[in-house]
Amino acid sequence: MISLNQVTKSFAGTNAVHDVSFSVSQGAFLVLLGPSGCGKSTMLRMLAGLEQPTGGQIRFGDTLVADGGSGFTIPPAKRDTGLVFQSYALWPHMTVAGNIEWPLKVAKLSNDERRARIKEAMEMLGIAQLANRYPGEVSGGQQQRVALARMIAPRPNVMLFDEPLSNLDATLRVEMRVELLRVHAATGATSVYVTHDQVEAMTMATHVAVMNRGRIEQFDAPERLLAEPASAFVAGFVGTPPANLIPIADGKWFGAIADPSLPGLRGYAMVRAEEIAVTDEPGPRTLQVRLAEIVPMAGRRLVTGIVNDIRITAIADGAARLPLGLRFRLPDAPAAFFDTEGNRIS
Ligand SMILES: Nc1ncnc2c1ncn2[C@@H]1O[C@H](COP(=O)(O)OP(=O)(O)O)[C@@H](O)[C@H]1O
Ligand SMILES: [Mg+2]
Repeated sequence: MISLNQVTKSFAGTNAVHDVSFSVSQGAFLVLLGPSGCGKSTMLRMLAGLEQPTGGQIRFGDTLVADGGSGFTIPPAKRDTGLVFQSYALWPHMTVAGNIEWPLKVAKLSNDERRARIKEAMEMLGIAQLANRYPGEVSGGQQQRVALARMIAPRPNVMLFDEPLSNLDATLRVEMRVELLRVHAATGATSVYVTHDQVEAMTMATHVAVMNRGRIEQFDAPERLLAEPASAFVAGFVGTPPANLIPIADGKWFGAIADPSLPGLRGYAMVRAEEIAVTDEPGPRTLQVRLAEIVPMAGRRLVTGIVNDIRITAIADGAARLPLGLRFRLPDAPAAFFDTEGNRIS
């Protein structure tokens, strides 16, 4: 449904998005995930038609919607997309129903059609009782529902979301994720959702594009990012907690502890928290650590210790008393290995 071919966007010579290619089919829920400034909003704005790529092509189905080479572009209003931002941008002087009606008027739908669509959208978001209120008279969560209703009322084929839940408190955010997935499924639209929150990405996406500095580091199903991270960046960004990346030099953990499983290697070993044993017994591949932090998690504890200035996180049982002379035992071999540039080599 959506396909990108070598899409690039540069602002005054610097690439905000660099050589991005991927495709997703109708009904997909694609999440663009990455840290602030990595190019997520720029990607989304190119899909919406608010930015023009400087290179490459964007297609919706068989239709070319933007071509950086020739400068061809289909304007935003003709792309059959809907867009929701973090700030709801509701008209304060229009009622809830009036706000939802706005894009339908722009699309020149008849009175009857407009009334039917407003009803449908309000019912889908459970806000029919708010129809005659003004945005200032409803809560933040309800405002976000109004913004969603306004977006879906014209029945766009592509729904675009730019960090839409980041203004909501934690409980409401979790509730709205479910709501949003329900709306996505009910409409049959293809969604592209931008977030810097990896938990949000992992719980909502059918596909995730992990972005870093304008490039896609990995485009995959969420579970594949955890099982087979393509780069050190991905390994250190996704997961609860993310995997440990331990520097290896001359086949030694931390450049200090020799290990025959790492012959002459230099780079980063990936070790998941659950593969590290918390112990007080000395032994092979066992390191004395300085305790930095203990965080309870689902009946267990994340124990973070510092070794040679590197933070390492392990998982301990909830009940067990932590030994005073805290040691971490590393697994027999790393789950993955990355070179000094962060590229996966095994
Ligand atoms: N209109 C613009 N002019 C110049 N630079 C921009 C513009 N929009 C975005 N950028 C730059 O492009 C990069 C990516 O920005 P953005 O897509 O907003 O990232 P994200 O949404 O992932 O935080 C940043 O370095 C940002 O400063
Ligand atoms: Mg952004």
